Amino acid sequence: MTIERQILSGVPTEDDLGFEVSLRPKTLDEYIGQEKVVEKMRLFIRAASERGEALDHVLLFGPPGLGKTTLAHIVAHEMGAPMGATSGPVLERPGDLAAILTNLEAGQVQFIDEIHRLGPTVEEILYPALEDFHLDIVLGQGPAARTMKIDLPRFTLIGATTRAGLITAPLRARFGIVHRLDFYQPEHLAQIIHRSARLLGVTVDAPGAFEIAKRSRGTPRVANRLLRRVRDFAQIHTDDRIDHDSAQRALEMLEVDEFGFDEVDRKILGTLIEHYQGGPAGIQALAAAVGEDRGTLEDLYEPYLIQEGFLQRTPRGRVATFRAYEHLGVQPPPGTAGRLF
Ligand SMILES: Nc1ncnc2c1ncn2[C@@H]1O[C@H](COP(=O)(O)OP(=O)(O)O)[C@@H](O)[C@H]1O
Ligand SMILES: [Mg+2]
Repeated sequence: MTIERQILSGVPTEDDLGFEVSLRPKTLDEYIGQEKVVEKMRLFIRAASERGEALDHVLLFGPPGLGKTTLAHIVAHEMGAPMGATSGPVLERPGDLAAILTNLEAGQVQFIDEIHRLGPTVEEILYPALEDFHLDIVLGQGPAARTMKIDLPRFTLIGATTRAGLITAPLRARFGIVHRLDFYQPEHLAQIIHRSARLLGVTVDAPGAFEIAKRSRGTPRVANRLLRRVRDFAQIHTDDRIDHDSAQRALEMLEVDEFGFDEVDRKILGTLIEHYQGGPAGIQALAAAVGEDRGTLEDLYEPYLIQEGFLQRTPRGRVATFRAYEHLGVQPPPGTAGRLF
């Protein structure tokens, strides 16, 4: 990955991980934006607490960096429950998951990140655990094999995934609460930047925070990362103060454009427009043309381009919109204006 791409990717870097724990909000009140999700979670948590029960299982999906892991920790905190965390790729064998589940405390919140990456045999033992709080463990093989049933305490599973489409129907059906996290409005990202700046001991004024917010791809992780890079710039050039001018100059130096696009975004739109006359183009062909794998395009690039109205997903393939032509300064082909909203 080039530097610019790391700067704008929702996927955490080593550097992020160090800061994220300290910047992570701990309560629902501190969790900025995503109002509908927060409102519903507040209600469900309160109702479960009043009944003295574990919260229903929760499935969170959305692009990287939008606050899924943060929300999982907040739920445990608000429930006053112990928290365990693991991830799909770590749970290679059914026994790996069984070991975790049989160690749960009553009411515990267990987080499984990248839950779409659980193998089928592991996923299967999760079904009865989620539904009736027991495990069916098969002992031995062949005619002598028998199933042992182990009861589990009531617990709350929180699953997170960037790929809602890859969750199997039976797994999805076992979550009582399903939330999709959306990209954040610049106003909310600006609030997050102010909060993080306070925690990092940096001074940023409102126009400075908004300038960073606008270029953060709707993603808190990117906003926090850009804040740290702009801080470096401000430290050298403007006595540690971040205002509109220093934010703009720093972001230009980092080659983050006004929409928070990087070279891959521009390449996707450029390829569509120049090689496919604006599309439709199949995702596979588009991925090959920009030199990325399909999953990266679908996970990291498309969601934001679609949300911002630069790209459209149609049954016949991806299509560049009028906005994409405008952004790249290319004249749309004659007679297509109606088609490219
Ligand atoms: N709603 C929010 N309010 C404030 N900060 C947030 C919010 N959502 C995410 N963040 C910040 O962004 C970072 C990335 O969030 P994280 O929960 O790790 O994202 P995900 O798990 O979806 O990839 C966290 O360290 C946190 O500081
Ligand atoms: Mg996460």
